[in-house]
Amino acid sequence: MTLYRATVVDTPANPFTEEPAAALRVEQDGAVLVRDGVIAARGPYAEVRASYPDEPVEHLTEGLLLPGFVDTHVHYPQVRAMGGLGRPLLDWLHQYALPEEARLAEVSYADAVAVQFLDHLARAGTTSALVFGAHFAPAMDTFFTRAEASGLNITAGLVLGDRLLRDELHTTPERALAESHELIRRWHGRGRLQYAVTPRFSLSSTDALLEVCTELMRPIAGGEAVPVRFTSHINENTAEVAAVAALFPGARDYLDSYDRHGLVTDRSVFAHNVHASDLELTRMAEAGAWAAHCPTSNSALGSGLFPLRRHVEHGVGVALGSDVGAGTGMFVGKEGLQAYFMQQLLGAAGLPLTPVHLLYLATSAGAHALGRQERTGDLSVGKDFDAVWLCPPPGSELATNLAVADDAVDALARVFALGGPADVAQVYAAGRPLHTRRASDDAATRARSGRSESGDSHRPTASHEPTQD
Ligand code: GUN
Ligand code: ZN
Repeated sequence: MTLYRATVVDTPANPFTEEPAAALRVEQDGAVLVRDGVIAARGPYAEVRASYPDEPVEHLTEGLLLPGFVDTHVHYPQVRAMGGLGRPLLDWLHQYALPEEARLAEVSYADAVAVQFLDHLARAGTTSALVFGAHFAPAMDTFFTRAEASGLNITAGLVLGDRLLRDELHTTPERALAESHELIRRWHGRGRLQYAVTPRFSLSSTDALLEVCTELMRPIAGGEAVPVRFTSHINENTAEVAAVAALFPGARDYLDSYDRHGLVTDRSVFAHNVHASDLELTRMAEAGAWAAHCPTSNSALGSGLFPLRRHVEHGVGVALGSDVGAGTGMFVGKEGLQAYFMQQLLGAAGLPLTPVHLLYLATSAGAHALGRQERTGDLSVGKDFDAVWLCPPPGSELATNLAVADDAVDALARVFALGGPADVAQVYAAGRPLHTRRASDDAATRARSGRSESGDSHRPTASHEPTQD
């Protein structure tokens, strides 16, 4: 067992339905006791230490210990396609994203991309993700192999499309069914992995392909105990919405192109939903489907301003996604800041967000969207120890600001305003340390700032080597 001493901050309740102050839980000098990757006890450090006087202590006493971030929309094959600014969605797809995605036909390339992708997730403090996969089954096999080894909580699936992409990315309904079934059989429910049926979007899916998705969503007789999940894109860009309306003349709206196939469920996460109608929001709420809000992507592609207030008023659950490569990096904290900006820019139509809302959107909300709320999303006893220790390098703007923060809410505000992957000092996935900022870097910055190491036991930064370096 290990006892982590830290300022522990999480959101076990929903600040959109409860008072934000009541949704936040703070242990200023707190402790989390971890046994076999699971949180066995938590509380004020003095109390927990008194109950467990012999356990080793790791001092994470500067900065904040938060639940690991949950990214509910991120594309594995696009980790090398970030930064393509200046184009709207359909242009961007054809110029930037799809040519890169075609390269994953070669499994050695796909494998190298998978390693990079998972490493970047961990370095960004993300411990759970709903990952948009590749169009190639061998690329997904290699991805799941690497994801299992990473220790991260990953839900992903083979991406399906049978029109309007690039020829080499197209499948057929028959092939989609066979390859997806095989991947589900091999990977769904194995360790921390789950499978998500993933048509790219209705624009690139015929009704026959969407019907295959319906088939894949049905539990296999004698097969998986936990049903597979579903994800796709929706209502991202006005030209895309118009094209979908033309391709599905019988559908009431974009959501209905999925709904007619039974794909709008409480296991469904739809990315973007910037241009949602009230009817669509009503139907999503009724079904318990979630929206993945991806603000940096929406701004980068000029997709529009996300109607968060209307989602909340309709009772649709919203979590955050980085949408890399259209998004501008994997740090979900940045998505929180951009979500806050977007609501500010919407004026009266916006929903003002507090730091508590941002933490909830970046952690617990995502765990619910993935159906993993019993295991992750906050640091409650009985859950997996999925956590990120945000501790800025000495001398950074965030360090300067955390040092004068009034309280935990103020500290959280400064983390969302100023934080980035460079402030991720340590990440734990089910108790396993995944990423440690280089001890030598910290030693250098500490020396520059004239501080010395202290405490009655080692600092993790001095005790673990970086992973995958
Ligand atoms: N819609 C269909 N494919 C994509 C994609 O790769 N990125 C985004 N942002 N939207 C999409
Ligand atoms: Zn996307």
